Amino acid sequence: MLIGVPKEIKNHEYRIGMVPASVEELTSRGHQVMVEANGGVGIGFTDADYLAAGATIIETAKEIFAAADMIVKVKEPQAVERKMLRPGQLLFTYLHLAPDPDQTDDLQASGATCIAYETVTSDRGGLPLLAPMSEVAGRMSIQAGAACLEKSKEGCGMLLGGVPGVEPAKVTIIGGGVVGSNAARMAIGMGAQVVILDRSVDVLRRLVSEFGTAIQTVYSSKATLEEHVLSADLVIGGVLIPGAAAPKLVTADMVSRMKPGSAVVDVAIDQGGCFATSHATTHQDPTYIVDGVVHYCVANMPGAVARTSTLALNNATLPFIVSLADLGWQEAIRRDKHLANGLNVHNGQITSKEVADALGREYISYCA
Ligand SMILES: NC(=O)c1ccc[n+]([C@@H]2O[C@H](COP(=O)([O-])OP(=O)(O)OC[C@H]3O[C@@H](n4cnc5c(N)ncnc54)[C@H](O)[C@@H]3O)[C@@H](O)[C@H]2O)c1
Repeated sequence: MLIGVPKEIKNHEYRIGMVPASVEELTSRGHQVMVEANGGVGIGFTDADYLAAGATIIETAKEIFAAADMIVKVKEPQAVERKMLRPGQLLFTYLHLAPDPDQTDDLQASGATCIAYETVTSDRGGLPLLAPMSEVAGRMSIQAGAACLEKSKEGCGMLLGGVPGVEPAKVTIIGGGVVGSNAARMAIGMGAQVVILDRSVDVLRRLVSEFGTAIQTVYSSKATLEEHVLSADLVIGGVLIPGAAAPKLVTADMVSRMKPGSAVVDVAIDQGGCFATSHATTHQDPTYIVDGVVHYCVANMPGAVARTSTLALNNATLPFIVSLADLGWQEAIRRDKHLANGLNVHNGQITSKEVADALGREYISYCA
């Protein structure tokens, strides 16, 4: 198969669909891979690295879109890229179509077959191609939150782990899923006092078996949430109700009663956020203050650590890329129902029920 990897063009996006090691895996199996010139240079992968992995370096995205059987990307295709897609071509990337009617229009009009990373499922539950980004964001939330407690960010001037003779900060994590457990791992490592709230007892059990007495688990109710938010120095918001906007668990009144100079990192901001006082920020200007509480609400946290994020994403996507290339997409999704769940658009029709319902459009079931 002829696989095309264009350079990402979204603002400040440095990730790339395939790292050289992934390219080598494909070329060693007899596939051809075209990579756009300087596609990985922002995260330290040069054209020479890609050439050594067996890729061909192509000067423009236009040539790649014109020739490739399958396009592998990271972010949803931008308007200019959507115009270059064509019938019969396969697109494998994050799409997030439910809130994006314009993109959906263009993908339907293109006639291309579009498989979205974020709706591929797994036998163990969860979303295996979304999880790596939650792992990154969860871990990052603690380093971002630690910085928010510094005086330069208008925080209270507290070191997360304290020092001998001086108490550490209290970190309250709301939601003990992928984001929450990765945040906990970092917070424990930095010596903080860690409390995790979740409304699933099974999740709390798993956290205790993973971290033992290094954390305190608390069943999430209105009362316990308020208690542990008001006594925290740093609160991490990592809740998710699949398919829905994040619940506003922390009210503006609660925020106004938090400790002066404390901080919140609302990782769930990409789903609207779980603090009533949250609004999305960017890496250029990540924080703002409400009632003396530092808010960090960056909606694309993994973009800041694009090299780690790209490598983590490639580890998760590579088996699917190999299967799509070796078998062709029809046979690949026929053999793998989880990959089939990734099929969002085919031949002008919406083949994901969730996307069709969210957009109020017709859903067509694709039977492989
Ligand atoms: N900002 C970013 O850059 C970024 C990056 C990755 C993920 N995210 C977001 O982070 C959020 C969490 O993702 P995840 O992968 O950890 O999800 P997950 O499904 O693994 O975990 C979510 C947890 O929230 C818990 N929960 C739901 N309602 C709750 C409540 N009322 N109180 C306490 N816990 C509750 C669930 O039981 C679950 O354990 C999502 O919104 C995701 O989109 C953001």
